[in-house]
Amino acid sequence: MFHRQHQTWATIRKAFGNRLETSIHPGIASALRCLALVAVLWGLTACGAPALQGSTDYQTVVPSADGIGKVYLGREIAQTMGHQGAGWLDRPSRVLQERPQAAIEALDLTPTDIVADIGAGTGYFARRIAPLVFQGKVLAVDIQPEMLAMLQAELETKGIENVEPVLGQPDDPNLPPNSIDLALMVDAYHEFANPREMMQGVVLALKPGGQVVLAEYKAENPMIMIKRLHKMSVAQVRREMAAVGLEWVKTNDTLPEQHLLFFQKQA
Ligand SMILES: C[S@@+](CC[C@H](N)C(=O)[O-])C[C@H]1O[C@@H](n2cnc3c(N)ncnc32)[C@H](O)[C@@H]1O
Repeated sequence: MFHRQHQTWATIRKAFGNRLETSIHPGIASALRCLALVAVLWGLTACGAPALQGSTDYQTVVPSADGIGKVYLGREIAQTMGHQGAGWLDRPSRVLQERPQAAIEALDLTPTDIVADIGAGTGYFARRIAPLVFQGKVLAVDIQPEMLAMLQAELETKGIENVEPVLGQPDDPNLPPNSIDLALMVDAYHEFANPREMMQGVVLALKPGGQVVLAEYKAENPMIMIKRLHKMSVAQVRREMAAVGLEWVKTNDTLPEQHLLFFQKQA
């Protein structure tokens, strides 16, 4: 871009520069040169010149092995886990490895709560939360219809009636405004391809004072054998939630592999 800008300036200079410097007062010539430079920069902005794209939310990089080549607030977004790997979500060893029941207890749910499990996958958490909100419900949001089909089959087998599958979009959770008490994202947020838009949608869907809870594998711990971009640090999660106006409430680090981070929408 700088190369192009230099060439443009050289062309202007060639056409008018010498005449400006010889026939016009030097101060006026200098002012005219400034005006010409401003016009060139304005033109580049209007054309969407690459160097000015840093002002957008996302940057593009060469994709890492487990990334999509899109960077948000310094973090490369991870690839979405395909429905072909759904069996891994329901692996029996998860109970000891991750202690999901302890994570659910930490949510401190009340029976009437409306919970959105966003990036629900096969509903590992939605199904376990459902009995605790027996007067409320769980909205299980995912962008892969195949995941939601597996969830639906499990709901029917187990006779669970207060979990509703919701097909979301990569940039929209498709939830009604002011409708949920809690948005839970377990091992999911790091792979949202449009994290800012998704979280803006989540904030809209929360009732005033509603909470957001993220469970993310601890990036600070190299002993946790999860791909690099599928882990997040506390500092990064806090940075990204602050970017959509969510207030940090607390971090619970009692789980063996994941941080549990709690945020709140203003009451
Ligand atoms: C690693 S799985 C975790 C599933 C579940 N939370 C669990 O812990 O078992 C991540 C899920 O997030 C979903 N996902 C990715 N981007 C999404 C988005 N923008 N909105 C909703 N779901 C999304 C994927 O389709 C995938 O099912």
